[in-house]
Amino acid sequence: MRAYKAKAVERIELPDREAREHYLREAGYNAFNLDADAVFIDLLTDSGTGTMSDEQWAALLRGDESYAGSESFQRLESAVADVMGFERIVPAHQGRGAENVLYGALISKGDYVPNNTHFDTTRAHITNAGGEPVDCPIESEPGDPFQGNLDVDGVRELASEVGAERIPAVVVTITNNSLAGQPVSIENLREARTVANDLDARLVIDACRFAENAYFVTQRETEFAGESVADVAREQLAVADAIVMSGKKDGLANVGGFVGVRADDDELYEQARQRGILYEGFTTYGGMAGRDLEAMAVGLREAVEETYVESRVEQVAELGELLQEVGVPIRTPTGGHAVYVDAGEFLPSIPHEEFPGQALVCALYREGGVRGVELGELAFPGTERDQLVRLCLPRRTYFRDHLEHVAETFAAVAERREELPGYEIVDEPEMKELRHFSAELRPIE
Ligand code: F0G
Repeated sequence: MRAYKAKAVERIELPDREAREHYLREAGYNAFNLDADAVFIDLLTDSGTGTMSDEQWAALLRGDESYAGSESFQRLESAVADVMGFERIVPAHQGRGAENVLYGALISKGDYVPNNTHFDTTRAHITNAGGEPVDCPIESEPGDPFQGNLDVDGVRELASEVGAERIPAVVVTITNNSLAGQPVSIENLREARTVANDLDARLVIDACRFAENAYFVTQRETEFAGESVADVAREQLAVADAIVMSGKKDGLANVGGFVGVRADDDELYEQARQRGILYEGFTTYGGMAGRDLEAMAVGLREAVEETYVESRVEQVAELGELLQEVGVPIRTPTGGHAVYVDAGEFLPSIPHEEFPGQALVCALYREGGVRGVELGELAFPGTERDQLVRLCLPRRTYFRDHLEHVAETFAAVAERREELPGYEIVDEPEMKELRHFSAELRPIE
């Protein structure tokens, strides 16, 4: 049951089929190029797209817009200390700004950085700092409770190959966005701590979806059964030396982020602070307006409220169930923020080099004005991987009938699946890693 009701609403409209066909063509068959008002149900991302609470809107008016020493910054600092246990923060305009601040301070040319799975911007910032990002996910079976875990032995192997001195940090991303939003257990985080100690490396947690991860821990890890999400949220972060945070996820805000550093880590704090001033803005706003700091301060406290986070994760599971009922193959169990559909299995007649994921994204928009995102060969060129489509739920935004519409859209697509074309790229940017944001495609006749 949702523990909130709507107080302000936004009109959405489903353009007719002819208009949808036209918009899709104009967009070069790339959902990133669609105007938002041409989209009926927008499941592109959960990043900054959620609905703020009345308390957050009220807090906006308290925003202290002082350049230095803003009271809003102090309120954000207190919220991070209370909710996440980090007393020192360097604010940033969003998660990738925080990544630039932290990884630029930690990493030198020739370093290696293992992570359960690097998110795109994490990978890019580590590379940009001269480091080599290495994915170390555990091998798991469908149904396993903590498929997001870090392969700790894999990290040790990497250290024996490249030398422990070349690994300045071990990173764990909770939940593991690039691996279907699957959670990480506290047991695994503790093992990561031990490895980091053995390698004399820092342990960094990418805490974007820390509240959702904490909820899964209370549900699936015996040691924490019956504990509050708020307590577990702090407990899981207690092992880390530093955190990177995008306030656009579990900060329940539309923008913002920060790096959290331990109170006694003067060296890292000072380096991060100086980089923050250089790239983001002065230490008490970091690229955010005072009102943004306020919205995140309130949002962080709301994110660990039991009723909120339970209904959040349950809604994702609900979408997963509705899709399974109409025969859609999805990753199970569903993760914290999105349902991941196996488009390769759903559209078996489209070979992987013709982007079945993108074919599904286009078909979902054409049939029902639903926008998802391809996470297969278009997004990750040259890698062998499953052809996935992510349906990501903005927080506190859609209702059950919207989810039913998504399931009905899938059912309609399924009926025509034999007729659906594959796609080819007609235009792509030089940096292939970023091609899914701007590439243009066409259906193969
Ligand atoms: N780390 C993770 C795990 C993320 O999922 C994201 C963003 C970032 C860092 C970067 O944060 O967007 O505030 O700069 N993920 C979004 C997504 C964009 O759609 O999954 P940001």
